[in-house]
Amino acid sequence: MGGDSFIAWKNTYSVGIPKIDEQHQELINLTQRLHEACLSGTEAGRVYFKKAMHDLVNYVTFHFSAEEKLMEKIGFPGLPEHKKEHENFVKKVLEDVKNFEQGKAIVPNSFVRYLRQWILTHIAQTDQEYGIYVMQNQYKQVSDEPLI
Ligand SMILES: [Fe+2]
Repeated sequence: MGGDSFIAWKNTYSVGIPKIDEQHQELINLTQRLHEACLSGTEAGRVYFKKAMHDLVNYVTFHFSAEEKLMEKIGFPGLPEHKKEHENFVKKVLEDVKNFEQGKAIVPNSFVRYLRQWILTHIAQTDQEYGIYVMQNQYKQVSDEPLI
């Protein structure tokens, strides 16, 4: 859709685990879609925005659970703090979704800006921590079991 890239994947975001990188790219795509829905300002745009919000919530839930399982599997010591970050994010997003559906004033634009800021910071910083941990422990060499 269009050439307007509100949010885009960069190779520096990679955590070194291809399946996780794919999921992060999908999160970025979903955020880009929400941004595009914001631009229209029509009733159809509002319906599309609502649908895109739900798609995002579903995907975030799936992705966070995959990440948390992975961190558990590798015995990552930062799991509790990481989980807390996920929980706080989900709480805020669900609140905004609820407010939007009840017709309360959530400004789609600031919602999408918040998403972009949180997702990029989380991917570029917090998620790197378990990526480094996986690399340092050379987990793949000690087990045949796939990480994810
Ligand atoms: Fe994460």
